[in-house]
Amino acid sequence: MTARNQNDALTLAIPKGRLQDRTEELLRSRGYEIRFEDRKLVATDPGGQLQVMLVKNSDLPTYVHHGIAGLGVCGTDGIYESGYRFFTLMDLPFGKTRMCLASRADYRPEGDVHRLRVASKFTRFAHDYFQERGIPCEIIRLDGSVELAPVLGLAPYIVDLVETGSTLRANDLMVIEELATVSVVLVANPAYYKFHYKRIDALVDTLR
Ligand code: PRP
Repeated sequence: MTARNQNDALTLAIPKGRLQDRTEELLRSRGYEIRFEDRKLVATDPGGQLQVMLVKNSDLPTYVHHGIAGLGVCGTDGIYESGYRFFTLMDLPFGKTRMCLASRADYRPEGDVHRLRVASKFTRFAHDYFQERGIPCEIIRLDGSVELAPVLGLAPYIVDLVETGSTLRANDLMVIEELATVSVVLVANPAYYKFHYKRIDALVDTLR
């Protein structure tokens, strides 16, 4: 048996950060030994079946949309923000979180509040969520540490991911409402899937 060459490998983008270790662990447990050496951002398993690219979370949908990676591991939150459409192949068994509206525990709106002022990294989601419900709002975009917004007075509300709740607690914030559940999924670029569906389906079977 000969190993596949790199060009023949399925291409998979995985996100840097908190999902990276869990994704690599899952791949290793299924026989795909992925090691990124010397700060390299592309690695292929020794069998030459899977070429894995390590990309920034928020850039991952862009790489899959353009077919640079045919497959991607991504949160449903990031996919929604990107606006791109992919085939969802499977839910992965880690990284489930909740998208929540939160505020300071002691926040009391004064008088009539005509517009909800909300800070978020997830501006598309927040905008659509409130618009669909006819709730007037002003969305302020931040790129991280969103919990600071109510603490510093930028906005009384945030829409953000809550996993353990420890970041909210540490900043004296509380969940007002859970808006959506978020999971981590394996997705495919639709055109890539059409060309490689047999091998992709086999990969999905292995990962299940
Ligand atoms: C996410 C999210 C919250 C935190 C929630 O941020 O935006 O800030 O994790 O997790 P917890 O409920 O377990 O405390 P992330 O760590 O990705 O960093 P960021 O705020 O810089 O985007």
